[in-house]
Amino acid sequence: MAQGGSLGDDKVIWEASPHTLAKHQVYKQYLSKWMPIMVHSWKGDVTYAEGFAGPGVYTGGEPGSPVIALKTLIGDPLIRTRARDLRFLFVEQNNKRAERLRQELEHAATPVPLNDLARYGIDLAVATGDYDPTLVDLLTRRNAWGRPMLVVLDTFGGSVKLDLVRRIALNPSSEVIITFEPQYFARFAGSERVRHGDTVFGDPDWRRVAEQPDSAKAEWVVAKYRSVLQEVGFPFVLTFELVNTRGHSLFLIFGTTHVRGLQKMKEAMWEVDPVHGVQYRDPADPDQQLLDIELEPVTAPLRRELLEHLRGEPEQTASVSDLRRFALYRTVYKESQVKPVLDPTPLG
Ligand SMILES: C[S@@+](CC[C@H](N)C(=O)[O-])C[C@H]1O[C@@H](n2cnc3c(N)ncnc32)[C@H](O)[C@@H]1O
Repeated sequence: MAQGGSLGDDKVIWEASPHTLAKHQVYKQYLSKWMPIMVHSWKGDVTYAEGFAGPGVYTGGEPGSPVIALKTLIGDPLIRTRARDLRFLFVEQNNKRAERLRQELEHAATPVPLNDLARYGIDLAVATGDYDPTLVDLLTRRNAWGRPMLVVLDTFGGSVKLDLVRRIALNPSSEVIITFEPQYFARFAGSERVRHGDTVFGDPDWRRVAEQPDSAKAEWVVAKYRSVLQEVGFPFVLTFELVNTRGHSLFLIFGTTHVRGLQKMKEAMWEVDPVHGVQYRDPADPDQQLLDIELEPVTAPLRRELLEHLRGEPEQTASVSDLRRFALYRTVYKESQVKPVLDPTPLG
């Protein structure tokens, strides 16, 4: 089992929730940065892969993440013409969804038929099956290992086996985006029969979430997962929380082997267009304030986080560059957002 909340398998497509729309905005912004950097620095020999690809469209006609990724390349002539062996590899377990995805990708690639994309340096494949082992097999068959890859593992929140994440982390210049619902793990922590969490975290230590007070369970399990990702080889991990109007949270967990990836992901998440019905929350904010997704972000949580950090420092002082590093590595904020928070507010 690889998912938390789930949809009946009978539905081929479904309505995009505010969480999904916000998540797609983040992907879109990030891909518009990742794709040109990777195509220019690796001569296009890179991979974008998804292990839980979905049908490529929602009932309102909104594109799914595989279509967003393909369009990022096709829509930009400056990078499209430089693609060489640029792999788009998708795995979807449900036959009908996989078939629909092929149709949606065909549509997105128009006027070039999917089978002809190879002539333009694009190697695209949709495989039907369980992500384990179908994704690893597909990456192997298409010669993706040993070259940079961005792998999106968008389960319904239950995440994936750690062995896969470790293997991606050990691959050069690689990144993962994982959707994660802490409630799923909090719910099954006491059940010895449900072993899925042990494969996600690598051992049963995550079950200690059961000992945490209810109000701290989500934060604990996300912090635990973050440290597991760092241990397997992603030195830079960004966790951010999307909260809907009912207070339901979906975490996006981004792991990268490169600090530049972290910086670009932060730029991406602060550039998204507002999405009705969903807000951000910085998991590290002591007050857990909800933030509207807007271009001029509220930085009160950053101020609190910096103050809390300073309290733990010798003589409660730190240089601006230390604080910028803290913001980059430990909060959802960007380094550039630190200085304005430190500057005294002008008197009105
Ligand atoms: C959250 S949806 C993906 C949505 C897509 N990434 C997007 O944003 O448009 C998860 C998909 O994973 C598929 N799925 C569930 N379990 C799977 C498994 N074990 N292996 C591969 N795909 C699976 C489901 O059929 C569903 O289409």
